[in-house]
Amino acid sequence: MAQDSSTETSPLLRNGEVHDSDDEVDPHVVRKSNDKTNYTGRAIVLYLLTLIFIAALVVLLGFKEHLPDQILPWIGELPREPTRAALAVLDVAPVIVNLPILVRYLYANNVSAVDLNSRMPGHVDIPRLREGKVGGFFWSVYVSCPEIKDAENFTEPSWRVRDTLEQIDVARSLIDKYPDTFQSASTSEDVTTSIINGKIASLLGVEGGHQLGNSISVLRQYYSLGARYLTLTHTCHNAFADSSGPTAPLHNGLSPLGRRLIDEMNRLGMLVDLSHTSDETAIQALNYSRAPVIWSHSSARAIHDVQRNLPDDVLRLVGSGPGQKEAVVMVNFVPDFVAVPGNASVASVADHVEHIARITGKDHVGLGSDFDGMNGAPTGLEDVSKYPALIAELRKRGWNKFELAGLTGANILRVFQGAERVAKELQDNHTLPVYDLYDKRTDIPRNPFEL
Ligand SMILES: *[C@@H]1O[C@H](CO)[C@@H](O)[C@H](O)[C@H]1NC(C)=O
Ligand SMILES: *[C@@H]1O[C@H](CO)[C@@H](O)[C@H](O)[C@H]1NC(C)=O
Ligand SMILES: *[C@@H]1O[C@H](CO)[C@@H](O)[C@H](O)[C@H]1NC(C)=O
Ligand SMILES: *[C@@H]1O[C@H](CO)[C@@H](O)[C@H](O)[C@H]1NC(C)=O
Ligand SMILES: *[C@@H]1O[C@H](CO)[C@@H](O)[C@H](O)[C@H]1NC(C)=O
Repeated sequence: MAQDSSTETSPLLRNGEVHDSDDEVDPHVVRKSNDKTNYTGRAIVLYLLTLIFIAALVVLLGFKEHLPDQILPWIGELPREPTRAALAVLDVAPVIVNLPILVRYLYANNVSAVDLNSRMPGHVDIPRLREGKVGGFFWSVYVSCPEIKDAENFTEPSWRVRDTLEQIDVARSLIDKYPDTFQSASTSEDVTTSIINGKIASLLGVEGGHQLGNSISVLRQYYSLGARYLTLTHTCHNAFADSSGPTAPLHNGLSPLGRRLIDEMNRLGMLVDLSHTSDETAIQALNYSRAPVIWSHSSARAIHDVQRNLPDDVLRLVGSGPGQKEAVVMVNFVPDFVAVPGNASVASVADHVEHIARITGKDHVGLGSDFDGMNGAPTGLEDVSKYPALIAELRKRGWNKFELAGLTGANILRVFQGAERVAKELQDNHTLPVYDLYDKRTDIPRNPFEL
């Protein structure tokens, strides 16, 4: 068994399943009594109880290799059998799930026609979320890049803001339709509360700057509707930043407006998501953002060489060391990004997790997945019910329970809390909201007095 040196309890550890055994007896309790006799009597009883307790603990720990798997979690140990160990390590949260786009394409956004208690055609439904021990996820309210090929000046109107509002409506309607299962969450504290209540914490994330119609006021409105991350780009460039999609860069990273967008995201407490961006965008945003950042679904280029994955020189900027940035890289399961055709599997996804962890440290890796946002899935990770298989694989590779709890949720929650702290600081000192307009827009007069 790997020994856990840390006694820190992750907020995601399920009550009872992984149990800290050294906080049972509170020595301060006796001090509350003023009655001397009572004090001595109680102290003796307490002393004896403590002795018995410690003796029992010593016996248990001394013989723990002989204890059945079911007992081990109660003394803070993981079961030996990896699958059982995986199930003892808590809920997976939050991962990225693209269910709303499936509802758009397969159900014309008719939420009444969607039955999440039955087997859904994609990767996600309630029985499989429960089987996979999913404790929470970001509902991605993604819509695709606009088709308008207007000289890349982004001034042509598109329907992407309307479409995004429709996807926010789908996500919120589905959350409301199953109140026994989902609980809407907009803060890190909400996520923990939902999980403690046995609900699946439901956050929203917007998967591309193109969905803002290149307007920072739209960002604020998405925030007020509950969105807590914005991916700076999807597969197209936009007025804010370059994507890893097109081969030729447009801004060589962030545009000046893109920096102002990040200022506003930091002030609001909206996570800056660097998945899909070009390497230059990622490097610049990592350096520029005051708040910690995320990659909502990105894997490692050194393991599988595609542009959509992160190169080692970007990974080296993430971590807890000097010159490194607090961030979490949540691994993508899309088979084409994981391995050559036919080779994506639990083991190859675990290779990505371990490669990233080797460079950034295990505190900076998470699970992004992208279920319902991909065609096919890795062998052994066919849908949301299969997360425990990945945890079991990493357990076999020697990850301990705290490292696994970090991977499955505590790391992203820590980063989210970091972003919330930065937002509070900026709001407390009255940092002004960003009202900058995209400079190529001509529909709003810049100097009304000249009208
Ligand atoms: C939406 O689905 C429900 C349930 O299947 C159905 O009764 C209703 O007619 C559908 N609405 C539309 C507009 O298709
Ligand atoms: C990070 O930003 C600072 C200014 O804020 C700049 O001096 C530095 O060169 C930047 N580093 C990188 C790697 O872009
Ligand atoms: C794909 O998987 C097969 C079987 O495991 C292995 O022999 C082969 O080397 C893998 N291909 C690549 C390019 O990794
Ligand atoms: C608010 O604090 C940040 C640093 O946390 C600082 O950069 C900024 O200038 C401050 N703004 C005001 C208005 O004081
Ligand atoms: C944007 O591109 C369109 C189409 O090429 C062009 O008509 C328009 O003048 C451009 N606007 C600006 C502000 O560059």
